[in-house]
Amino acid sequence: MPSKPSSKAAGAEENPPAPKHEIALEDLPGIGVTTAEKLRESGYTDLMELAVASPGDVAEAAEIGVAVAQKIIGEARRKADVGQFESGTTLLERRKRLGRITTNSKALDELLGGGVETQAITEFSGEFGTGKTQIAHQVAVDVQTASAQGGLGGEVVYIDTESTFRPERIVDMAKGVGIDPEEALRRIHVARAFNSNHQMLLVQKAQELARERPIRLLVVDSLTAHFRSEYLGRGELAPRQQHLNRHLHELLRFADTYNAAIVVTNQVSARPDILFGDPTRPIGGNIVAHAATYRVYLRKSKPPKRIARLIDSPNLPEGEAVFSLTGEGIRD
Ligand code: GTP
Ligand code: MG
Repeated sequence: MPSKPSSKAAGAEENPPAPKHEIALEDLPGIGVTTAEKLRESGYTDLMELAVASPGDVAEAAEIGVAVAQKIIGEARRKADVGQFESGTTLLERRKRLGRITTNSKALDELLGGGVETQAITEFSGEFGTGKTQIAHQVAVDVQTASAQGGLGGEVVYIDTESTFRPERIVDMAKGVGIDPEEALRRIHVARAFNSNHQMLLVQKAQELARERPIRLLVVDSLTAHFRSEYLGRGELAPRQQHLNRHLHELLRFADTYNAAIVVTNQVSARPDILFGDPTRPIGGNIVAHAATYRVYLRKSKPPKRIARLIDSPNLPEGEAVFSLTGEGIRD
């Protein structure tokens, strides 16, 4: 059967991408070429980014005083189209279209409140081998199934930063849920990201694709690996976080525009300040915490079992789920 998108991505018409702000940073009073360059290097590429930034962050990024930063932000707010209010009715309508994708584990689905949600970012973090990439593969297959089977009949954009996408695994998993493996592969649009800038560019490319194909899931595996290796050292933490923040907001915008689910994976780093309990935590700290709606922390248990724990979720009870990594994919 030829692959034919059954419908346009829901929401594509109602929620067009936000307009670009065409005014250059240099056009703001108080910003010279050097300052603009420094700001861009730190991830502030348009007015909106500046408008919503904190004076302290901007001061640090541009190496200027906080008072000057505050003035610049004020100007950016005046010029940027900040006031994009939506009526409650529009929001409710959009919420009604929320979709969920099964992970193929009942326990994990329940932990997530019914599966991986659209219009949201779901983060899977954990040490190597905890199953982050396996889960990403599994949802990339499951989203393609019909709603009765826990899918959305959709296609996938898969941004692979570590060259760990395995078509063979997709074949196994497609057989596991009873869909045609070749069809399944055709509906997953994979791109390898060579560095963090490329990774961000691919989200823009994904938007172009989503205008033509019914993309309902965007995977970034791994969200943070490039950012981590490119911004080594403490001194570079602020620019890294800015850059990552922008990436996450572009992902969220994609999720809203195309009613798509965003699944990102994240490594953990050692936490030297913790003496008791788990001494690791996901990379990206509070930036990821703010952007991700659901954060799932994975750890190993007796093979092939893994334990998933929901961390800082505002609307779901904390809890744990046990699932297994099998040859056919994720199972209870
Ligand atoms: P990093 O990316 O290294 O941080 O790890 P990850 O969390 O992405 O781990 P991944 O999802 O790659 O999980 C690896 C584990 O999945 C392996 O240790 C196996 O237990 C399991 N796994 C991977 N491929 C297969 C397979 O083909 N068959 C089976 N039965 N298990 C597999
Ligand atoms: Mg992996």
